[in-house]
Amino acid sequence: MMDLYYGADYYPEHWPENRWEVDAELMENCKINIVRVGEFAWAKLEPAEGEYNFDWLDKAIDILSKHDINVVIGTPTAAPPKWLVDKHPEILMRDEKGHPRGFGTRRHYCYNSPVYQKYTKEIVKKMAEHFKGQSSIVAWQIDNEFGCHDTTRCYCENCLQKFRKWLKEKYGDIDELNKAWGTIFWSQIYRSFEEIILPAYTVCDSQDHSNPHNPGLMLDFYRFSSDSVVKYQKLQIDEIKKYSLVPITHNLMGHFDQIDYFDLSKDLDFVSWDNYPNNQWNKASYQLTAMAHDLMRGIKNKNFWVMEEQSGPCGWSVMGDTPKPGQIRLWAYQAIAHGAEAILYFRWRACTFGTEEYWYGILDHDGIPRRRYYEVQQVGRELSKLSDLILDSRVVAQIAIVKSYDNLWSHELQPHNSNFDYNGLIAQYYKGLIANNVSVDMISEECSFDKYKVVFMPAFNLMTDEIQSKVEEYVKNGGVLVITFRSGTRNWDNSITTKTLPGYFKKISGIEVEEFDSLNQGRKVIINGIDSECSASIWCDILKTSEAETLATYGSDYYKGKSAITVNNFGKGRVYYIGCDLDNEFMKKLLYIIISDAGIRTNIPKSVKGVETVLKKKDTERYLMILNHNSYPVNINVGGKYKELITGDIIDGSVYLLPFGVAILRD
Ligand code: GLA
Ligand code: ZN
Repeated sequence: MMDLYYGADYYPEHWPENRWEVDAELMENCKINIVRVGEFAWAKLEPAEGEYNFDWLDKAIDILSKHDINVVIGTPTAAPPKWLVDKHPEILMRDEKGHPRGFGTRRHYCYNSPVYQKYTKEIVKKMAEHFKGQSSIVAWQIDNEFGCHDTTRCYCENCLQKFRKWLKEKYGDIDELNKAWGTIFWSQIYRSFEEIILPAYTVCDSQDHSNPHNPGLMLDFYRFSSDSVVKYQKLQIDEIKKYSLVPITHNLMGHFDQIDYFDLSKDLDFVSWDNYPNNQWNKASYQLTAMAHDLMRGIKNKNFWVMEEQSGPCGWSVMGDTPKPGQIRLWAYQAIAHGAEAILYFRWRACTFGTEEYWYGILDHDGIPRRRYYEVQQVGRELSKLSDLILDSRVVAQIAIVKSYDNLWSHELQPHNSNFDYNGLIAQYYKGLIANNVSVDMISEECSFDKYKVVFMPAFNLMTDEIQSKVEEYVKNGGVLVITFRSGTRNWDNSITTKTLPGYFKKISGIEVEEFDSLNQGRKVIINGIDSECSASIWCDILKTSEAETLATYGSDYYKGKSAITVNNFGKGRVYYIGCDLDNEFMKKLLYIIISDAGIRTNIPKSVKGVETVLKKKDTERYLMILNHNSYPVNINVGGKYKELITGDIIDGSVYLLPFGVAILRD
């Protein structure tokens, strides 16, 4: 049986050669069997144009493989070297004002630059050729975190030309484009594709945070930019595939939104991502981390890897909190619970120079094993015994939330209300669901809905006739659909529908949105229903129920007594319409009603604050992972006899979890 991959991101080029053997030994001692290397090493792999030097990496890989450590090799294109930038400054990305984004950090290149594409192909080809026989290489990583540091959208001449071509392919005829974008507005009619602009700096810019350009143009530019990354990645994949059969991935970011990750990952063999729950810029709740893991699993409907997992305090100029004893272990198990099949910690050892001197890893700058190393070692030993249980296991989810990048971008451009945030709404539904102890798949609208009892499409704004038919079919056959305010109000080209709201969802929801009210300056409106009360503070749709039944009404303002939340039977299924934002308690309760009506059973135990449960299935076996995210111990009532699979202990009635503790129970 194969062992689960467990490892670290390793930069041998940052350390003297005589340390490599020591590193490999220390790695082996904590059951590390994989490292990622190479992804920023272009200047060392090709110190001058056409002069290649792979010896150092061969040597490092050799030492590692003597310790049974496998390798993920990264293509180094996230960091174009100085000689290349000096020779071809035209490869640099440009900002909205046309300024080059220069050398000095990383990701300073344009995906659409033909020159950069040529150099990319060359270095990737050379690497693929060189490493093709190396049996310890078990995966390739393309580039590094596409789009990071706001590098998805570029405003250079290459991008302008490619954008025009992209539009021509999409619309064929310029009149079609004019119609879709509505360029009659403010005399923006284009007579040919050669006249098209990029949405660069213009007159109404910067009055507030909104973008004043035509919404059709903007959305197409966002789509084009995302597609450009997909194409750039494909160019590298094609090159590698000529020489190698090993699987190819890219390291995604959990909460990154400028690239359509569903599209990007179609060309990849598997998804991996970089998980930093607590760093200089961000402290993610465990629910948000869980949602990111679930999205990563949903992208290819397949288990994934964590290519970079936080293992120390981290930041660039200042540091986030130091992971407390037990947290590194907990984060690894949380990833595994949600579908990770490999964990690589970032980074093996903190670097003494460069922008990321403060990004601590398993080892400190002095390279001496301490608490974090020993925790990694403990996890390594535990996981080596659990491999069989984890590999090819599945999360048992009967609920899906649809995340759409097109919808996200449309909402980002025009959020309807300054407090509205599409991702925030999705996260609130997600949190409300997992607070009820159920698992959720994060999927795209293209994914099949058939296996789910309940599908959520929060604020699914942009619609097509095809999606409408798909959704109707699903509900007709017995599915439960949950939609919210701002669902179905726009066409896929980002223009507003002339259908009566909720537009594309009117028929199945059995309601009409008579009016709506965007709540500003702290206004609140009371909601009454499901034996509870809360208030909306962002948006209220005032609903006329033709066929639907009312579950909650407004309790204040001029629409007091009118419907706020409804449910409608359609075919064998039902459709819930939630016309306003809700507070978390009300949400949790409403979601419980919706899922239990749909026949979904929540996991045992009943929800405990700060404790996450994930039910998993491996072949015919089921096991429950219980994760205590609290900094205090908890005693969880599980009402029955189980075997705890990490310790082998028999659990009877209740399980005791240490602060940040984990248990895996088999029925
Ligand atoms: C990202 C990158 C890494 C490193 C870490 C820390 O996840 O992929 O190269 O920069 O962040 O900043
Ligand atoms: Zn460009």
